[in-house]
Amino acid sequence: MALTEADLARIAAAVDEDRLWRMHMEMAKFGATAKGGVCRECLTDEDNQARKLLIQWAHELRCTVAVDAIGNMFIRRPGTDPDAVPVATGSHLDSQPTGGKFDGAFGVLAGIEMLHALDAAEITTTRPVEVINFTNEEGGRFQPGVMGSQVYTRPEELERMLSAVGADGVILRDALAAFRAMAGPMEDRALNLPYAGFVEAHIEQAPMLEETGNTIGVVTGIQGSRKYQVTVTGEEAHSGTMPMRRRKDAVLAASTMVVGLHRMMEDPADLTRFNVGRFQAYPGAPSVVPGQVRFAIDFRCPDDALREGLGGQIAGLCQALAGPCDVQVDEIQRSETTPFDPGVMAMIRKAASRADAPSMDLLSGAGHDARNMTKLCPTGMVFVPCKDGVSHNEAESATAADLAAGARVVAQVVAEMAG
Ligand code: GLV
Ligand code: MN
Ligand code: MN
Repeated sequence: MALTEADLARIAAAVDEDRLWRMHMEMAKFGATAKGGVCRECLTDEDNQARKLLIQWAHELRCTVAVDAIGNMFIRRPGTDPDAVPVATGSHLDSQPTGGKFDGAFGVLAGIEMLHALDAAEITTTRPVEVINFTNEEGGRFQPGVMGSQVYTRPEELERMLSAVGADGVILRDALAAFRAMAGPMEDRALNLPYAGFVEAHIEQAPMLEETGNTIGVVTGIQGSRKYQVTVTGEEAHSGTMPMRRRKDAVLAASTMVVGLHRMMEDPADLTRFNVGRFQAYPGAPSVVPGQVRFAIDFRCPDDALREGLGGQIAGLCQALAGPCDVQVDEIQRSETTPFDPGVMAMIRKAASRADAPSMDLLSGAGHDARNMTKLCPTGMVFVPCKDGVSHNEAESATAADLAAGARVVAQVVAEMAG
């Protein structure tokens, strides 16, 4: 049954700004850093503690918690029709190694606040409503990121992802087993089960909302990206004795590649986003000519043709700049620029106006689990401002009022889709 305008207004009014803020501060204790951010990488002790608190909050709301083969968590509030396909919201509790309190956590906690608001407004939906905590969105410890939703929507990727080796040498499969042992028995959830709709709340991670004085971003889509792992192999040697002309120095070759790639990616229209954020030399000793370098490329661009063209030149340029070393370039993730559902976008605009929050349309430069969910169901995203557009940084900051506005929008949209 469709909910009335009055029902949706009651749900929005039941979102409690203080409770939502308190939940953020509680979660931020897990992995809290001296600079006010969080280090809560995927399936570390800190992430597992955050997951455990989420389970506790779900049970306090009389919701069930299920977990799938990649560790995604599904908190379910039943609807009147137990056979109906559910509607979901959610995001991720894992963080970058020097992350903030809001990237990801907001989307999960806005979902928990939605469950409180539905209870407070005494709303019973027809479809079940779920809050999802996706595994390894950030991709810092285990690569690639946005992994949980990728496996959920493409189960054939499960084995490859379970075998991912973390930056600390731990295999994801073992980290997951440790979480399951710590969390105790939980219902198992199959991968790729359908949804009737999905909406994700997130801080913007860019300055557009703040610059324009808008509170809600109606996200039109997510720009495409290509991620690569590059391995440059030279030869270890004594740094004091081996003549320069005879060296196979992997750092020299790899840094020449990084500079060359940055030059190739220069774009007068400022559409390309190119980053080498991890660059590791082995064996990493001052007096050994480095025998190997591994570096990670994160390349994004909303223009599909430009991204395809430039991405296609990466391996060739690395080869050309390898000097006496060998190089191997592996593409580990690739996505097209993905539009969101116009119907969900329209619901978000209406929900923002019901909540008296000024909104604007914008494209997401960051990747999100919502991108993968577009394969399953009508999907959208709601952005709220973050201070100075800063994110992936311990200084990341957002206001309680803006977070509550985003939660009000998500609660209404999920309720509307759930009927
Ligand atoms: C997500 O954190 C991304 O890297 O876009
Ligand atoms: Mn995020
Ligand atoms: Mn992030």
